[in-house]
Amino acid sequence: MAVALQLNPLSPRLQDGLAQRLEVVRWFELDERQRGALLKDRAPDVVAIVAGGHVKGPTQLMQALPQLRIIAINGVGYDNVDLALARSRGVRVTTTPGTLTDDVADLAVGLIIALLRQIPAADAHVRSGAWPRGEQPLARKVTGRRFGVLGLGHIGAAIAARLAAFGPVAYSSRSEKPVPYAFHPDAAALARTSDVLVVACSANASTRHLVNAEVLDALGPDGSLVNVSRGSVVDEAALIDALETGRLAGAALDVFEDEPNVPQALRASPKVVLTPHIASATVETRAAMADLVLANLDAVLRGEEPPTSVA
Ligand code: 8YV
Repeated sequence: MAVALQLNPLSPRLQDGLAQRLEVVRWFELDERQRGALLKDRAPDVVAIVAGGHVKGPTQLMQALPQLRIIAINGVGYDNVDLALARSRGVRVTTTPGTLTDDVADLAVGLIIALLRQIPAADAHVRSGAWPRGEQPLARKVTGRRFGVLGLGHIGAAIAARLAAFGPVAYSSRSEKPVPYAFHPDAAALARTSDVLVVACSANASTRHLVNAEVLDALGPDGSLVNVSRGSVVDEAALIDALETGRLAGAALDVFEDEPNVPQALRASPKVVLTPHIASATVETRAAMADLVLANLDAVLRGEEPPTSVA
């Protein structure tokens, strides 16, 4: 029976749908010996890889699977797939565009409010029983702050549209776009005019560590950074240094350089709000993503053009 390699945990809807179509091997649960044995004994049977956009591995595996036909990404980021190699091998690469835009944009707004209004600390203040002993320290106003959106693709544009209700919005992108927001040619220029910088750009070689010490210093000691893109876009060591030295007021992060491992310096910091890469993690959105992954898989296995391919 043809095999699909599943590289990370998926929603029950998607896992059930895969199992109805193919023999599913949960690659992420295998140890190195089991992985070697599978590639030795079953490599020619593997026709599909299914993985979240943030999961490393598709490119390396692609080279060991001679009959691979599709890498079906359960997400929109394909930074962990070598598209040129896929094209040279005739392997289709599909994603789920449009399914998670609203969820990611909603979470970005939620993270901004949670950070500026210190909601996690306020929740802990009540739960800990500290309220009778004193008030929660004052937080910062959201409405009227200057918002900078780094990357104005579908997700960045959705974030900008939401933030326009709170205050002035500016953006930086590869090129200027016909939108009612101020354009800045680079991340540092955008950061200089922002109180809150939201990272929403694609992750690739050109955006790796795009938010570096220079950009963080441009954002400044009263500035806040929000990242719903990829951890690789932010120089995490520079971010920690800026927070610890008071050169940045705070950060709200849904993504990290080495997920699921998050540096102790971030986990211990009172200046940050942290979430475990949940931007698209709602029942409704993961169902829509699952249906599109399965539609892409079905089309490729039937020899037809998949609905949403990037290669
Ligand atoms: C996905 C992501 O939702 O879309 C992406 O590329 O990184 C995530 O937000 C996640 O990979 C689902 O497993």
